[in-house]
Amino acid sequence: MAEKKWVLLVSLAFIMVMSPLSSRIMDSAQVLHLNMGELASMVLGKFQFWATFNNGVDRGTVESRAIGPNMTACHHSYGRPDLLVYCCPPGFEKSVPFVDFEFPDPRSPVKVRRPAHLLDESFIVKYNKALSIMKSLPYDDPRSFARQAELHCQFCTGAYEQLNYSDTPVNIHRTWLFFPWHRMMIYFHERILGSLIGDDSFALPFWAWDIPEAMPMPDYYVNENSAFFHTERDFSHFPPRVADLAYSTDKNHPHLSNDEQIDVNLKFMYTQMVSGARKTELFMGCTYRANDGYCDTTGTVEQAPHNTLHTWIGSSLNPGREDMGKFYSAAKDPIFYAHHSNIDRLWEAWRKINNRRLDITDPDWLDSFFFFYDENLKLVKIKVRDVLDTTKLGYSFEEVDHPWLNHRPPPSVPPKQARQMLKLKENKNPVFVSDFRPDGRVLDGIFTVKVLRPMKRERKEEEEETIVVYGIEVKGNDYVKFDVYVNLSDETKMNPKFREFAGTFAHIPGGGDAMKKKMKLKLGVSELLKDLETDEDESIWVTVSPATVSCSNVSIEGIRIEYIE
Ligand code: C2O
Repeated sequence: MAEKKWVLLVSLAFIMVMSPLSSRIMDSAQVLHLNMGELASMVLGKFQFWATFNNGVDRGTVESRAIGPNMTACHHSYGRPDLLVYCCPPGFEKSVPFVDFEFPDPRSPVKVRRPAHLLDESFIVKYNKALSIMKSLPYDDPRSFARQAELHCQFCTGAYEQLNYSDTPVNIHRTWLFFPWHRMMIYFHERILGSLIGDDSFALPFWAWDIPEAMPMPDYYVNENSAFFHTERDFSHFPPRVADLAYSTDKNHPHLSNDEQIDVNLKFMYTQMVSGARKTELFMGCTYRANDGYCDTTGTVEQAPHNTLHTWIGSSLNPGREDMGKFYSAAKDPIFYAHHSNIDRLWEAWRKINNRRLDITDPDWLDSFFFFYDENLKLVKIKVRDVLDTTKLGYSFEEVDHPWLNHRPPPSVPPKQARQMLKLKENKNPVFVSDFRPDGRVLDGIFTVKVLRPMKRERKEEEEETIVVYGIEVKGNDYVKFDVYVNLSDETKMNPKFREFAGTFAHIPGGGDAMKKKMKLKLGVSELLKDLETDEDESIWVTVSPATVSCSNVSIEGIRIEYIE
Protein backbone atom coordinates (compact mmCIF):
# COMPACT_ATOMS: atom_id res chain seq x y z
CA MET A 1 0.00 0.00 0.00
CA ALA A 2 2.75 2.42 1.03
CA GLU A 3 4.52 1.60 -2.19
CA LYS A 4 1.39 2.29 -4.18
CA LYS A 5 0.89 5.71 -2.59
CA TRP A 6 4.49 6.63 -3.22
CA VAL A 7 4.23 5.77 -6.90
CA LEU A 8 1.01 7.73 -7.08
CA LEU A 9 2.54 10.85 -5.49
CA VAL A 10 5.58 10.84 -7.72
CA SER A 11 3.44 10.33 -10.78
CA LEU A 12 1.09 13.13 -9.77
CA ALA A 13 4.00 15.52 -9.23
CA PHE A 14 5.35 14.53 -12.59
CA ILE A 15 2.03 15.16 -14.30
CA MET A 16 1.62 18.55 -12.60
CA VAL A 17 5.04 19.62 -13.83
CA MET A 18 4.50 18.21 -17.26
CA SER A 19 0.88 19.15 -17.82
CA PRO A 20 1.49 22.61 -19.33
CA LEU A 21 3.79 20.88 -21.77
CA SER A 22 1.57 17.90 -22.41
CA SER A 23 -1.44 20.09 -23.03
CA ARG A 24 0.40 21.43 -26.03
CA ILE A 25 1.02 17.93 -27.25
CA MET A 26 -2.36 16.40 -26.43
CA ASP A 27 -5.62 17.69 -27.72
CA SER A 28 -6.10 20.70 -25.43
CA ALA A 29 -9.83 20.20 -25.01
CA GLN A 30 -9.16 16.73 -23.67
CA VAL A 31 -6.71 18.00 -21.08
CA LEU A 32 -9.08 20.70 -19.91
CA HIS A 33 -11.59 18.08 -19.02
CA LEU A 34 -9.22 16.45 -16.60
CA ASN A 35 -9.49 17.75 -13.08
CA MET A 36 -7.13 16.59 -10.40
CA GLY A 37 -9.38 13.69 -9.34
CA GLU A 38 -9.52 12.38 -12.84
CA LEU A 39 -5.78 12.73 -13.20
CA ALA A 40 -5.30 10.77 -10.03
CA SER A 41 -7.59 8.00 -11.16
CA MET A 42 -5.89 7.97 -14.54
CA VAL A 43 -2.52 7.45 -12.91
CA LEU A 44 -3.92 4.95 -10.45
CA GLY A 45 -5.56 3.12 -13.33
CA LYS A 46 -2.19 2.93 -15.10
CA PHE A 47 -0.56 1.71 -11.96
CA GLN A 48 -3.14 -1.02 -11.55
CA PHE A 49 -2.70 -1.94 -15.13
CA TRP A 50 0.93 -2.72 -14.40
CA ALA A 51 0.12 -4.74 -11.35
CA THR A 52 0.07 -8.48 -11.78
CA PHE A 53 -1.62 -11.25 -9.87
CA ASN A 54 1.50 -12.21 -8.06
CA ASN A 55 1.99 -8.86 -6.44
CA GLY A 56 -1.68 -7.99 -6.37
CA VAL A 57 -1.80 -8.56 -2.63
CA ASP A 58 -1.06 -5.50 -0.57
CA ARG A 59 2.48 -5.76 0.79
CA GLY A 60 1.66 -3.82 3.92
CA THR A 61 -0.83 -6.41 5.13
CA VAL A 62 1.21 -9.60 5.26
CA GLU A 63 -0.79 -10.57 8.31
CA SER A 64 -3.97 -10.70 6.29
CA ARG A 65 -5.45 -14.13 5.83
CA ALA A 66 -8.02 -13.01 3.34
CA ILE A 67 -8.76 -15.55 0.62
CA GLY A 68 -8.13 -15.00 -3.06
CA PRO A 69 -7.47 -17.28 -6.03
CA ASN A 70 -4.12 -17.75 -7.72
CA MET A 71 -5.43 -16.84 -11.16
CA THR A 72 -2.41 -18.02 -13.14
CA ALA A 73 -2.63 -21.58 -11.89
CA CYS A 74 -6.08 -22.85 -12.82
CA HIS A 75 -6.18 -26.58 -13.46
CA HIS A 76 -8.39 -29.60 -14.10
CA SER A 77 -10.73 -30.41 -11.28
CA TYR A 78 -13.48 -32.84 -10.36
CA GLY A 79 -17.10 -31.97 -11.06
CA ARG A 80 -18.04 -35.31 -9.59
CA PRO A 81 -15.44 -37.72 -8.25
CA ASP A 82 -15.86 -39.75 -11.42
CA LEU A 83 -15.82 -36.74 -13.71
CA LEU A 84 -12.74 -34.69 -14.50
CA VAL A 85 -13.65 -31.23 -15.77
CA TYR A 86 -11.70 -28.27 -17.10
CA CYS A 87 -13.48 -24.98 -16.52
CA CYS A 88 -10.48 -22.61 -16.51
CA PRO A 89 -10.64 -19.36 -18.44
CA PRO A 90 -8.32 -19.23 -21.47
CA GLY A 91 -5.39 -16.81 -21.52
CA PHE A 92 -4.37 -16.88 -17.87
CA GLU A 93 -1.12 -18.76 -18.27
CA LYS A 94 0.61 -15.45 -17.63
CA SER A 95 -0.50 -12.58 -15.45
CA VAL A 96 -3.39 -10.63 -16.88
CA PRO A 97 -3.87 -6.93 -16.14
CA PHE A 98 -6.79 -5.98 -13.94
CA VAL A 99 -8.34 -2.94 -12.31
CA ASP A 100 -9.69 -2.52 -8.81
CA PHE A 101 -13.44 -2.39 -8.48
CA GLU A 102 -15.08 1.02 -8.61
CA PHE A 103 -18.67 1.72 -7.68
CA PRO A 104 -20.91 2.64 -10.58
CA ASP A 105 -21.76 6.31 -11.05
CA PRO A 106 -24.42 7.10 -8.42
CA ARG A 107 -26.28 9.11 -11.05
CA SER A 108 -26.87 6.05 -13.23
CA PRO A 109 -30.34 4.49 -12.94
CA VAL A 110 -31.00 2.18 -10.00
CA LYS A 111 -31.61 -1.36 -11.16
CA VAL A 112 -34.71 -2.61 -9.38
CA ARG A 113 -34.76 -6.39 -9.22
CA ARG A 114 -38.33 -7.55 -9.53
CA PRO A 115 -40.04 -10.78 -8.49
CA ALA A 116 -40.10 -13.18 -11.44
CA HIS A 117 -43.79 -14.00 -11.02
CA LEU A 118 -44.80 -10.35 -11.47
CA LEU A 119 -42.83 -9.52 -14.60
CA ASP A 120 -44.66 -8.10 -17.57
CA GLU A 121 -44.33 -9.52 -21.03
CA SER A 122 -42.19 -6.66 -22.31
CA PHE A 123 -39.56 -7.27 -19.64
CA ILE A 124 -39.46 -10.98 -20.38
CA VAL A 125 -38.98 -10.20 -24.09
CA LYS A 126 -36.13 -7.85 -23.24
CA TYR A 127 -34.44 -10.31 -20.90
CA ASN A 128 -34.90 -13.08 -23.42
CA LYS A 129 -33.13 -10.96 -26.00
CA ALA A 130 -30.23 -10.16 -23.69
CA LEU A 131 -29.82 -13.80 -22.71
CA SER A 132 -30.00 -14.96 -26.34
CA ILE A 133 -27.22 -12.55 -27.28
CA MET A 134 -25.17 -13.71 -24.32
CA LYS A 135 -25.66 -17.33 -25.37
CA SER A 136 -24.57 -16.53 -28.92
CA LEU A 137 -21.26 -14.92 -27.94
CA PRO A 138 -18.19 -17.04 -28.71
CA TYR A 139 -16.45 -18.92 -25.92
CA ASP A 140 -13.45 -16.60 -26.17
CA ASP A 141 -15.62 -13.77 -24.97
CA PRO A 142 -15.73 -13.78 -21.17
CA ARG A 143 -19.20 -12.24 -21.33
CA SER A 144 -20.59 -15.34 -23.06
CA PHE A 145 -23.09 -17.47 -21.20
CA ALA A 146 -20.78 -20.47 -21.35
CA ARG A 147 -18.00 -18.53 -19.67
CA GLN A 148 -20.38 -17.15 -17.04
CA ALA A 149 -21.32 -20.70 -16.16
CA GLU A 150 -17.65 -21.71 -15.91
CA LEU A 151 -17.04 -19.07 -13.26
CA HIS A 152 -19.20 -21.08 -10.94
CA CYS A 153 -17.51 -24.33 -11.89
CA GLN A 154 -14.06 -22.90 -11.09
CA PHE A 155 -14.88 -22.07 -7.52
CA CYS A 156 -16.76 -25.18 -6.46
CA THR A 157 -14.49 -27.89 -7.85
CA GLY A 158 -11.12 -26.70 -6.58
CA ALA A 159 -9.83 -25.47 -9.96
CA TYR A 160 -7.95 -22.68 -8.18
CA GLU A 161 -5.54 -22.74 -5.31
CA GLN A 162 -5.39 -19.91 -2.85
CA LEU A 163 -2.91 -17.21 -3.66
CA ASN A 164 0.39 -18.05 -1.93
CA TYR A 165 -0.88 -21.44 -0.72
CA SER A 166 -0.39 -23.87 -3.52
CA ASP A 167 -2.05 -26.87 -1.87
CA THR A 168 -5.23 -25.27 -0.66
CA PRO A 169 -8.12 -25.00 -3.09
CA VAL A 170 -10.52 -22.07 -3.00
CA ASN A 171 -14.07 -23.10 -2.21
CA ILE A 172 -16.94 -20.65 -2.13
CA HIS A 173 -19.58 -23.06 -0.91
CA ARG A 174 -19.96 -24.18 2.70
CA THR A 175 -18.04 -21.11 3.89
CA TRP A 176 -18.69 -17.50 4.86
CA LEU A 177 -17.85 -16.56 1.26
CA PHE A 178 -21.06 -18.14 -0.01
CA PHE A 179 -23.25 -15.02 0.04
CA PRO A 180 -20.69 -12.42 -1.11
CA TRP A 181 -19.19 -14.53 -3.91
CA HIS A 182 -22.57 -15.30 -5.44
CA ARG A 183 -23.53 -11.65 -5.11
CA MET A 184 -20.43 -10.67 -7.10
CA MET A 185 -21.09 -13.27 -9.75
CA ILE A 186 -24.67 -12.31 -10.52
CA TYR A 187 -23.89 -8.60 -10.17
CA PHE A 188 -21.46 -8.72 -13.11
CA HIS A 189 -23.79 -11.06 -14.96
CA GLU A 190 -26.56 -8.48 -14.60
CA ARG A 191 -24.35 -5.65 -15.84
CA ILE A 192 -23.28 -7.67 -18.85
CA LEU A 193 -26.86 -8.59 -19.76
CA GLY A 194 -27.85 -4.92 -19.55
CA SER A 195 -24.99 -3.77 -21.73
CA LEU A 196 -25.75 -6.39 -24.39
CA ILE A 197 -29.09 -4.69 -25.01
CA GLY A 198 -27.88 -1.18 -24.22
CA ASP A 199 -30.09 -0.89 -21.13
CA ASP A 200 -28.26 0.20 -18.00
CA SER A 201 -31.41 -0.12 -15.91
CA PHE A 202 -31.67 -3.85 -16.61
CA ALA A 203 -32.09 -5.79 -13.37
CA LEU A 204 -32.07 -9.54 -12.79
CA PRO A 205 -35.41 -10.87 -11.62
CA PHE A 206 -35.61 -13.02 -8.51
CA TRP A 207 -37.58 -16.21 -8.10
CA ALA A 208 -39.28 -15.56 -4.77
CA TRP A 209 -39.81 -19.22 -3.86
CA ASP A 210 -40.35 -18.16 -0.25
CA ILE A 211 -43.70 -16.51 -0.89
CA PRO A 212 -46.76 -18.64 -1.63
CA GLU A 213 -47.88 -17.18 -4.96
CA ALA A 214 -44.34 -17.45 -6.35
CA MET A 215 -43.41 -20.96 -5.23
CA PRO A 216 -43.80 -22.77 -8.57
CA MET A 217 -40.98 -22.27 -11.10
CA PRO A 218 -41.63 -18.99 -12.93
CA ASP A 219 -43.53 -19.73 -16.15
CA TYR A 220 -41.06 -18.19 -18.55
CA TYR A 221 -38.37 -20.69 -17.52
CA VAL A 222 -40.49 -23.53 -18.85
CA ASN A 223 -41.36 -21.92 -22.17
CA GLU A 224 -39.61 -24.15 -24.68
CA ASN A 225 -39.33 -21.36 -27.21
CA SER A 226 -37.28 -19.09 -25.02
CA ALA A 227 -33.65 -18.75 -24.01
CA PHE A 228 -34.75 -19.53 -20.43
CA PHE A 229 -35.68 -23.09 -21.19
CA HIS A 230 -33.26 -25.81 -20.22
CA THR A 231 -33.57 -29.51 -20.91
CA GLU A 232 -31.56 -30.80 -17.92
CA ARG A 233 -34.28 -30.38 -15.35
CA ASP A 234 -36.77 -32.51 -13.49
CA PHE A 235 -39.88 -32.05 -15.64
CA SER A 236 -42.13 -33.51 -12.97
CA HIS A 237 -41.37 -30.37 -10.96
CA PHE A 238 -42.65 -27.96 -13.57
CA PRO A 239 -45.55 -25.63 -12.76
CA PRO A 240 -48.08 -25.73 -11.27
CA ARG A 241 -46.09 -27.87 -8.83
CA VAL A 242 -44.92 -25.84 -5.86
CA ALA A 243 -41.20 -25.94 -4.99
CA ASP A 244 -40.28 -28.21 -2.11
CA LEU A 245 -37.86 -26.14 -0.04
CA ALA A 246 -36.95 -29.10 2.17
CA TYR A 247 -36.66 -31.50 -0.76
CA SER A 248 -35.25 -34.95 -0.40
CA THR A 249 -34.65 -37.34 -3.30
CA ASP A 250 -35.93 -40.29 -1.31
CA LYS A 251 -38.77 -42.20 -2.91
CA ASN A 252 -40.64 -42.21 0.39
CA HIS A 253 -40.44 -38.46 0.67
CA PRO A 254 -44.06 -37.35 0.95
CA HIS A 255 -45.59 -35.78 -2.11
CA LEU A 256 -47.78 -33.05 -0.66
CA SER A 257 -50.62 -31.12 -2.18
CA ASN A 258 -49.67 -27.56 -3.12
CA ASP A 259 -51.50 -26.11 -0.12
CA GLU A 260 -49.78 -28.43 2.33
CA GLN A 261 -46.43 -27.79 0.67
CA ILE A 262 -46.87 -24.03 1.00
CA ASP A 263 -47.58 -24.37 4.70
CA VAL A 264 -44.53 -26.58 5.24
CA ASN A 265 -42.36 -24.22 3.18
CA LEU A 266 -43.31 -21.14 5.19
CA LYS A 267 -42.65 -22.79 8.52
CA PHE A 268 -39.44 -24.24 7.23
CA MET A 269 -38.37 -20.75 6.10
CA TYR A 270 -39.07 -19.45 9.60
CA THR A 271 -36.66 -21.96 11.12
CA GLN A 272 -33.97 -21.33 8.49
CA MET A 273 -34.21 -17.52 8.44
CA VAL A 274 -35.28 -16.63 11.96
CA SER A 275 -35.11 -19.03 14.89
CA GLY A 276 -32.22 -21.07 13.50
CA ALA A 277 -30.25 -18.06 12.27
CA ARG A 278 -29.84 -15.86 15.32
CA LYS A 279 -26.05 -15.91 15.24
CA THR A 280 -23.74 -14.84 12.45
CA GLU A 281 -22.10 -18.19 11.80
CA LEU A 282 -25.42 -20.05 11.87
CA PHE A 283 -26.57 -18.07 8.85
CA MET A 284 -23.35 -17.09 7.09
CA GLY A 285 -21.42 -20.33 7.53
CA CYS A 286 -18.04 -20.76 9.12
CA THR A 287 -14.93 -18.67 9.25
CA TYR A 288 -12.69 -19.43 6.30
CA ARG A 289 -9.21 -17.92 6.13
CA ALA A 290 -6.26 -18.35 3.84
CA ASN A 291 -4.49 -21.64 4.39
CA ASP A 292 -7.11 -22.80 6.90
CA GLY A 293 -7.97 -25.75 4.78
CA TYR A 294 -11.71 -25.88 5.02
CA CYS A 295 -14.22 -24.56 7.36
CA ASP A 296 -16.72 -27.19 8.24
CA THR A 297 -20.11 -25.63 8.92
CA THR A 298 -22.58 -24.47 6.30
CA GLY A 299 -25.15 -21.73 6.93
CA THR A 300 -28.83 -22.57 7.33
CA VAL A 301 -30.12 -21.08 4.09
CA GLU A 302 -27.18 -22.27 2.02
CA GLN A 303 -28.12 -25.85 2.91
CA ALA A 304 -31.81 -25.35 2.48
CA PRO A 305 -33.59 -23.92 0.55
CA HIS A 306 -30.43 -23.27 -1.48
CA ASN A 307 -29.01 -26.79 -1.86
CA THR A 308 -32.38 -28.47 -1.66
CA LEU A 309 -33.71 -26.40 -4.58
CA HIS A 310 -30.61 -27.02 -6.69
CA THR A 311 -31.44 -30.70 -6.28
CA TRP A 312 -35.17 -30.23 -6.80
CA ILE A 313 -34.58 -28.48 -10.14
CA GLY A 314 -31.88 -30.76 -11.58
CA SER A 315 -32.76 -33.76 -13.73
CA SER A 316 -33.29 -37.08 -11.97
CA LEU A 317 -32.04 -38.76 -15.16
CA ASN A 318 -28.47 -37.52 -14.65
CA PRO A 319 -26.04 -39.12 -12.19
CA GLY A 320 -25.62 -35.95 -10.10
CA ARG A 321 -29.01 -34.46 -10.98
CA GLU A 322 -27.22 -32.12 -13.37
CA ASP A 323 -27.36 -29.41 -14.33
CA MET A 324 -28.61 -27.65 -11.21
CA GLY A 325 -27.95 -30.62 -8.95
CA LYS A 326 -24.16 -30.29 -9.10
CA PHE A 327 -22.27 -27.04 -8.77
CA TYR A 328 -19.86 -27.60 -11.67
CA SER A 329 -22.84 -27.53 -14.04
CA ALA A 330 -25.45 -25.51 -12.13
CA ALA A 331 -24.88 -22.12 -13.75
CA LYS A 332 -25.54 -23.57 -17.20
CA ASP A 333 -29.22 -23.45 -16.34
CA PRO A 334 -30.62 -19.92 -16.71
CA ILE A 335 -32.81 -20.44 -13.65
CA PHE A 336 -29.62 -20.47 -11.55
CA TYR A 337 -29.51 -16.67 -11.78
CA ALA A 338 -33.09 -16.15 -10.61
CA HIS A 339 -32.48 -18.63 -7.79
CA HIS A 340 -29.38 -16.73 -6.69
CA SER A 341 -31.03 -13.37 -7.06
CA ASN A 342 -33.48 -14.59 -4.43
CA ILE A 343 -30.67 -15.92 -2.24
CA ASP A 344 -29.09 -12.48 -2.52
CA ARG A 345 -32.37 -10.86 -1.45
CA LEU A 346 -32.71 -13.22 1.51
CA TRP A 347 -29.23 -12.25 2.69
CA GLU A 348 -30.46 -8.65 2.77
CA ALA A 349 -33.67 -9.76 4.52
CA TRP A 350 -31.67 -11.52 7.24
CA ARG A 351 -29.43 -8.47 7.70
CA LYS A 352 -32.51 -6.31 8.09
CA ILE A 353 -34.22 -8.66 10.55
CA ASN A 354 -31.12 -8.40 12.74
CA ASN A 355 -30.62 -4.67 12.17
CA ARG A 356 -27.23 -5.49 10.68
CA ARG A 357 -25.90 -6.26 14.16
CA LEU A 358 -24.79 -9.69 12.97
CA ASP A 359 -22.80 -8.50 9.96
CA ILE A 360 -19.28 -9.89 9.79
CA THR A 361 -16.59 -7.31 10.53
CA ASP A 362 -13.57 -9.58 10.30
CA PRO A 363 -10.99 -8.06 7.92
CA ASP A 364 -10.09 -11.49 6.53
CA TRP A 365 -13.64 -11.77 5.25
CA LEU A 366 -13.87 -8.14 4.14
CA ASP A 367 -10.61 -8.33 2.19
CA SER A 368 -11.18 -11.66 0.49
CA PHE A 369 -11.20 -10.99 -3.22
CA PHE A 370 -12.07 -12.40 -6.62
CA PHE A 371 -11.79 -11.41 -10.25
CA PHE A 372 -14.64 -10.94 -12.70
CA TYR A 373 -14.88 -9.54 -16.20
CA ASP A 374 -17.23 -6.61 -16.46
CA GLU A 375 -19.43 -5.60 -19.40
CA ASN A 376 -16.49 -3.72 -20.99
CA LEU A 377 -14.27 -6.80 -20.91
CA LYS A 378 -12.21 -5.32 -18.15
CA LEU A 379 -10.96 -7.74 -15.53
CA VAL A 380 -12.00 -6.38 -12.14
CA LYS A 381 -10.61 -7.28 -8.73
CA ILE A 382 -13.43 -7.04 -6.22
CA LYS A 383 -13.41 -7.57 -2.47
CA VAL A 384 -16.13 -8.73 -0.14
CA ARG A 385 -16.15 -5.26 1.43
CA ASP A 386 -17.17 -3.82 -1.95
CA VAL A 387 -20.44 -5.71 -2.08
CA LEU A 388 -22.01 -5.00 1.28
CA ASP A 389 -24.13 -2.05 0.19
CA THR A 390 -26.46 -2.84 -2.70
CA THR A 391 -27.37 0.83 -3.09
CA LYS A 392 -23.76 1.65 -3.85
CA LEU A 393 -23.67 -1.25 -6.28
CA GLY A 394 -26.65 0.38 -7.98
CA TYR A 395 -29.39 -2.15 -7.40
CA SER A 396 -32.27 -2.79 -5.07
CA PHE A 397 -35.07 -5.31 -4.65
CA GLU A 398 -38.70 -4.54 -5.15
CA GLU A 399 -40.32 -4.94 -1.73
CA VAL A 400 -42.20 -8.18 -1.27
CA ASP A 401 -43.67 -9.62 1.91
CA HIS A 402 -41.86 -12.04 4.12
CA PRO A 403 -44.86 -14.17 5.05
CA TRP A 404 -42.64 -16.72 6.82
CA LEU A 405 -41.85 -14.16 9.53
CA ASN A 406 -45.13 -15.04 11.19
CA HIS A 407 -45.11 -18.76 10.55
CA ARG A 408 -43.47 -19.89 13.73
CA PRO A 409 -44.12 -23.64 13.85
CA PRO A 410 -46.24 -24.99 16.73
CA PRO A 411 -45.35 -28.15 18.72
CA SER A 412 -46.92 -31.27 17.21
CA VAL A 413 -47.86 -32.65 20.62
CA PRO A 414 -48.43 -30.64 23.83
CA PRO A 415 -44.89 -30.41 25.27
CA LYS A 416 -45.68 -31.88 28.71
CA GLN A 417 -47.40 -34.86 27.19
CA ALA A 418 -44.48 -35.34 24.80
CA ARG A 419 -42.01 -35.51 27.68
CA GLN A 420 -44.07 -38.14 29.49
CA MET A 421 -44.19 -40.24 26.35
CA LEU A 422 -40.46 -39.86 25.83
CA LYS A 423 -39.70 -40.91 29.41
CA LEU A 424 -41.84 -44.01 29.04
CA LYS A 425 -40.07 -44.92 25.82
CA GLU A 426 -36.73 -44.31 27.45
CA ASN A 427 -37.48 -46.72 30.32
CA LYS A 428 -38.03 -49.45 27.78
CA ASN A 429 -35.09 -48.53 25.66
CA PRO A 430 -32.50 -46.34 27.39
CA VAL A 431 -30.26 -44.27 25.14
CA PHE A 432 -27.61 -42.18 26.82
CA VAL A 433 -24.67 -42.12 24.52
CA SER A 434 -24.42 -39.27 22.07
CA ASP A 435 -20.71 -39.62 21.40
CA PHE A 436 -19.92 -42.31 18.85
CA ARG A 437 -16.17 -41.83 18.58
CA PRO A 438 -13.91 -43.32 17.44
CA ASP A 439 -15.92 -45.48 15.05
CA GLY A 440 -18.76 -43.12 14.34
CA ARG A 441 -22.36 -44.02 13.72
CA VAL A 442 -23.65 -44.74 10.23
CA LEU A 443 -26.91 -43.00 9.39
CA ASP A 444 -28.65 -46.07 8.06
CA GLY A 445 -31.81 -45.52 10.04
CA ILE A 446 -33.61 -43.12 12.32
CA PHE A 447 -32.35 -42.95 15.93
CA THR A 448 -32.82 -40.91 19.08
CA VAL A 449 -30.21 -40.02 21.69
CA LYS A 450 -30.38 -38.12 24.92
CA VAL A 451 -28.08 -35.11 24.90
CA LEU A 452 -26.98 -33.43 28.12
CA ARG A 453 -27.17 -29.69 28.41
CA PRO A 454 -24.11 -28.27 30.17
CA MET A 455 -25.62 -26.65 33.26
CA LYS A 456 -22.50 -25.50 35.07
CA ARG A 457 -22.57 -21.80 34.49
CA GLU A 458 -25.06 -19.00 34.26
CA ARG A 459 -26.30 -18.57 30.76
CA LYS A 460 -26.42 -15.19 29.22
CA GLU A 461 -29.61 -13.99 27.62
CA GLU A 462 -27.84 -13.43 24.31
CA GLU A 463 -26.28 -16.86 24.06
CA GLU A 464 -27.66 -19.21 21.48
CA GLU A 465 -28.04 -22.81 22.50
CA THR A 466 -26.84 -24.85 19.58
CA ILE A 467 -27.12 -28.53 18.72
CA VAL A 468 -23.87 -29.57 17.09
CA VAL A 469 -23.75 -32.74 15.04
CA TYR A 470 -20.01 -33.20 14.63
CA GLY A 471 -17.66 -35.34 12.59
CA ILE A 472 -20.07 -35.73 9.68
CA GLU A 473 -18.35 -37.79 7.02
CA VAL A 474 -19.95 -38.10 3.60
CA LYS A 475 -18.45 -40.96 1.59
CA GLY A 476 -20.66 -41.18 -1.46
CA ASN A 477 -21.21 -38.66 -4.21
CA ASP A 478 -24.95 -38.36 -4.08
CA TYR A 479 -26.98 -35.61 -2.56
CA VAL A 480 -27.34 -36.20 1.17
CA LYS A 481 -30.03 -34.97 3.50
CA PHE A 482 -30.91 -35.76 7.09
CA ASP A 483 -33.15 -33.94 9.52
CA VAL A 484 -32.82 -33.28 13.22
CA TYR A 485 -35.70 -33.16 15.69
CA VAL A 486 -35.89 -32.31 19.38
CA ASN A 487 -38.18 -34.11 21.84
CA LEU A 488 -40.00 -35.87 19.07
CA SER A 489 -42.55 -38.16 20.69
CA ASP A 490 -44.60 -39.14 17.66
CA GLU A 491 -42.64 -40.25 14.62
CA THR A 492 -45.64 -39.76 12.37
CA LYS A 493 -45.26 -36.03 13.02
CA MET A 494 -41.77 -35.68 11.61
CA ASN A 495 -42.29 -32.58 9.54
CA PRO A 496 -40.67 -29.13 9.37
CA LYS A 497 -44.09 -27.64 10.01
CA PHE A 498 -43.79 -28.65 13.65
CA ARG A 499 -41.63 -27.04 16.29
CA GLU A 500 -39.78 -30.28 17.03
CA PHE A 501 -37.95 -29.80 13.73
CA ALA A 502 -34.56 -28.26 14.56
CA GLY A 503 -33.01 -28.18 11.11
CA THR A 504 -31.53 -30.07 8.26
CA PHE A 505 -28.24 -31.17 6.80
CA ALA A 506 -28.50 -30.87 3.01
CA HIS A 507 -25.26 -31.44 1.18
CA ILE A 508 -24.22 -31.55 -2.48
CA PRO A 509 -20.89 -33.37 -2.74
CA GLY A 510 -18.52 -32.00 -5.36
CA GLY A 511 -14.86 -31.55 -6.16
CA GLY A 512 -12.06 -34.04 -5.63
CA ASP A 513 -10.72 -35.60 -2.47
CA ALA A 514 -9.01 -32.39 -1.35
CA MET A 515 -12.50 -30.92 -1.00
CA LYS A 516 -13.73 -33.68 1.31
CA LYS A 517 -13.52 -32.90 4.96
CA LYS A 518 -15.49 -33.86 8.01
CA MET A 519 -18.30 -31.39 8.57
CA LYS A 520 -20.49 -30.11 11.35
CA LEU A 521 -24.14 -29.20 11.48
CA LYS A 522 -24.97 -26.38 13.89
CA LEU A 523 -28.58 -25.71 14.76
CA GLY A 524 -29.62 -22.75 16.88
CA VAL A 525 -32.43 -23.95 19.13
CA SER A 526 -32.90 -21.45 21.98
CA GLU A 527 -36.33 -20.35 20.83
CA LEU A 528 -37.38 -23.87 19.93
CA LEU A 529 -36.44 -25.17 23.39
CA LYS A 530 -38.57 -22.44 24.97
CA ASP A 531 -41.49 -23.34 22.75
CA LEU A 532 -41.10 -27.00 23.69
CA GLU A 533 -40.90 -25.98 27.36
CA THR A 534 -37.64 -27.85 27.81
CA ASP A 535 -35.48 -24.90 28.67
CA GLU A 536 -35.25 -25.99 32.32
CA ASP A 537 -34.47 -29.63 31.55
CA GLU A 538 -31.07 -31.20 32.07
CA SER A 539 -31.15 -32.96 28.75
CA ILE A 540 -33.10 -33.17 25.53
CA TRP A 541 -33.86 -36.01 23.15
CA VAL A 542 -32.41 -35.50 19.73
CA THR A 543 -33.66 -37.56 16.80
CA VAL A 544 -31.67 -37.90 13.60
CA SER A 545 -33.76 -38.90 10.63
CA PRO A 546 -32.04 -39.82 7.35
CA ALA A 547 -34.02 -38.40 4.44
CA THR A 548 -32.04 -39.87 1.54
CA VAL A 549 -30.88 -43.42 0.83
CA SER A 550 -27.38 -41.97 0.42
CA CYS A 551 -27.25 -41.45 4.20
CA SER A 552 -26.07 -45.05 4.49
CA ASN A 553 -22.74 -43.63 3.21
CA VAL A 554 -22.71 -41.01 5.94
CA SER A 555 -21.46 -41.32 9.48
CA ILE A 556 -21.32 -38.91 12.39
CA GLU A 557 -19.06 -38.83 15.44
CA GLY A 558 -21.60 -37.45 17.83
CA ILE A 559 -24.05 -34.82 18.97
CA ARG A 560 -23.48 -32.23 21.67
CA ILE A 561 -24.75 -28.90 22.83
CA GLU A 562 -22.73 -25.72 22.63
CA TYR A 563 -23.47 -22.11 23.37
CA ILE A 564 -22.68 -19.42 20.86
CA GLU A 565 -22.00 -16.04 22.40
CU1 C2O B 1 -22.76 -21.72 -6.00
CU2 C2O B 1 -26.37 -22.08 -5.93
O1 C2O B 1 -24.55 -22.38 -5.96
